[in-house]
Amino acid sequence: MFGEKVNLTGARETLLLTLYGKALESRLPHSLLEDRFADEAVRKIDYDFSRLKVDSNLGIGLAIRAKTLDVHVQDFFARNPDAIVLHLGCGLDTRIFRVDPPEGVDWFDVDYPDVIALRRRLYPSRQHYHLIASSVTELDWLTEVPRNRPAMVVAEGLTPYLAAEEGPRLFSRLVSHLASGELMFDAYSHFGLKLLRLNPSVRATGAEVHWAIEDPHELERAVPKLRFVEDISAYKPEHAARMGRVAKLFVRLWKYIPALRKIGRLLRYRF
Ligand SMILES: C[S@@+](CC[C@H](N)C(=O)[O-])C[C@H]1O[C@@H](n2cnc3c(N)ncnc32)[C@H](O)[C@@H]1O
Repeated sequence: MFGEKVNLTGARETLLLTLYGKALESRLPHSLLEDRFADEAVRKIDYDFSRLKVDSNLGIGLAIRAKTLDVHVQDFFARNPDAIVLHLGCGLDTRIFRVDPPEGVDWFDVDYPDVIALRRRLYPSRQHYHLIASSVTELDWLTEVPRNRPAMVVAEGLTPYLAAEEGPRLFSRLVSHLASGELMFDAYSHFGLKLLRLNPSVRATGAEVHWAIEDPHELERAVPKLRFVEDISAYKPEHAARMGRVAKLFVRLWKYIPALRKIGRLLRYRF
């Protein structure tokens, strides 16, 4: 095989898991995500994806989460045609191509330098699209980001990998740099982190998870400019229709049992 060699470990390697899940879902008939770029990237990368043990249920779950975020991002720039989008811990996610923002929107994808270097090799560049090669927690990168435009900040699959004190510090600095906007990310309870540690796909990467959020209002106390808007159940039963029976049952219980929802959910804030 003469594909693109990757040498990623720990939290960085988890981007191959989410990429592969989205690619698998995109190969299914009636795909929700139709992520042609993810599928092509997987075909170009020289890596044994089978070691990540990603099955179609996980792929469908990841696609549902990604699509939910895509719809919110599109809605944000429909309301704010001069918006900026900050996509933190972007990995190899191809949201920019899926949502195809209009001319007036500037988009910033942020991840570690080796991840951004890999992105550059795999995906085309486009106008108003900026790649920032830095840990999200080394906040000098914010100087590259305009301050006075409405901002949509998205982080998908990032927060559990941050240290518990790093997350609130990152969001504090972001909202003091930016004038106004929204923040959306997936958050996990302590029990949710335990399940992530047991998850065979996450285990295969050796990634460690740290930051748990039990109550969305915790973050309002730590970052007073943030206003909690909603907890979105990404896993709607109608979306899960193509999953296996056990996964479908879990999704149904998830919707109705608050303790289960806390395991992993999408949170939306305004600032
Ligand atoms: C599970 S992957 C998710 C990737 C992508 N958001 C997606 O949904 O496909 C986690 C991502 O977070 C990134 N990440 C973790 N900690 C980071 C940090 N401190 N700074 C920048 N990126 C980070 C990893 O490099 C990886 O790309």
